[in-house]
Amino acid sequence: MNIRKDISLLPYNTFGIDVKTKFFAEYNSVEELKELLQSDVVKSNPFFHIGGGSNLLFLSNFDGIILHSKINSIEVVEEDMLSVLLRVGSGVNWDKFVAYCVERNYYGIENLSLIPGEVGASAIQNIGAYGMEVKDTIKKVDFIDIETLKPKTFSNKECNYSYRKSIFKEELKGKVVITHVYFLLKKEPVYVLDYAHLKNAVLKNGEINLANVRKTVIEIRESKLPDPNDLGNAGSFFMNPIIPKSHYEELLRSYPAMPHYPVSETAVKVPAGWLIEQCDLKGKQFEKVAIYEKQALVIVNLGGATGEDIATVASLVQMTVKKRFGIDLVPEVNFIEKISPLSDS
Ligand code: EPU
Repeated sequence: MNIRKDISLLPYNTFGIDVKTKFFAEYNSVEELKELLQSDVVKSNPFFHIGGGSNLLFLSNFDGIILHSKINSIEVVEEDMLSVLLRVGSGVNWDKFVAYCVERNYYGIENLSLIPGEVGASAIQNIGAYGMEVKDTIKKVDFIDIETLKPKTFSNKECNYSYRKSIFKEELKGKVVITHVYFLLKKEPVYVLDYAHLKNAVLKNGEINLANVRKTVIEIRESKLPDPNDLGNAGSFFMNPIIPKSHYEELLRSYPAMPHYPVSETAVKVPAGWLIEQCDLKGKQFEKVAIYEKQALVIVNLGGATGEDIATVASLVQMTVKKRFGIDLVPEVNFIEKISPLSDS
């Protein structure tokens, strides 16, 4: 068990926030994770588990222990002519996993190419892009109950998935650690190309095949979203709000061109990026923080910003959108400040 002290979190958060954690530990197996969870350091300090750090905003130094999975296995559990069931370690880099599947002609996650982060977090966050959500391929999830140290498995249904949500972000938040995710992928061609102009973009690159879909999605993402290696960011800062249909219809009278996606008979999802752009915030700079010029849903660290600087700009965006549209924007990014020690929870 290797618990390190006073570690910089700069390599562990894509916002590029220069903070430290008092303790930091990585584990390679479920056994090592259990050992860590029983250690005095974990039991007596605030505790937080990170993935690729692509959805986090550290507001201060972290006065506790941060855990990170290095469970990096990919196993074929079952396979037939039509599908394959893979058991994937929580520490596997998400995009490497997508590349692995595309190379082997496994269908179902290619539209999720280049999303930063790791497999464990993908199952917490229900990552989604270009008409696909990871929940549609997750068969089940293995995790360790932090209090009892017992391994458990939840079926897809028990994970309670919806847009960017799961039981792991709600009732089970801070109570379990995901160790493996099972993905059921198809071996015969099924493409999801109806998002905006994705199909046309793929056809421009050649024929419709898995490698080409992946290539096209990567090109689109690279053209719209900043590379965290150049500009600190955490992708979409806010979730796209889901509003009552009556509110949407009222707004439509003033904004007939407002993009929207029906969610149910009574609710409509509207793109937060569009709302922010309407408020003339796109491309605006606030000292070391800016609203990204090519995608208003992304907040960027221009260099040297603190977590508080970014949080201040985020709340300005929220207030402006609320005032103009009467809509509350909810961050997709997790704000990390103080988290209770296990013994207090
Ligand atoms: N839009 C604007 N101005 C902007 C940005 C967007 O008017 O500055 C409009 C677009 O014109 C379009 C609509 O908003 O009509 C949707 O834009 P886009 O296709 O870029 O997607 P998004 O809704 O802004 C979501 C996800 C992204 C994902 C894309 C593509 C959320 C919170 N974000 O963004 O996910 O890549 O769709 O599927 O659902 C992430 O979660 O970090 C992320 C990048």
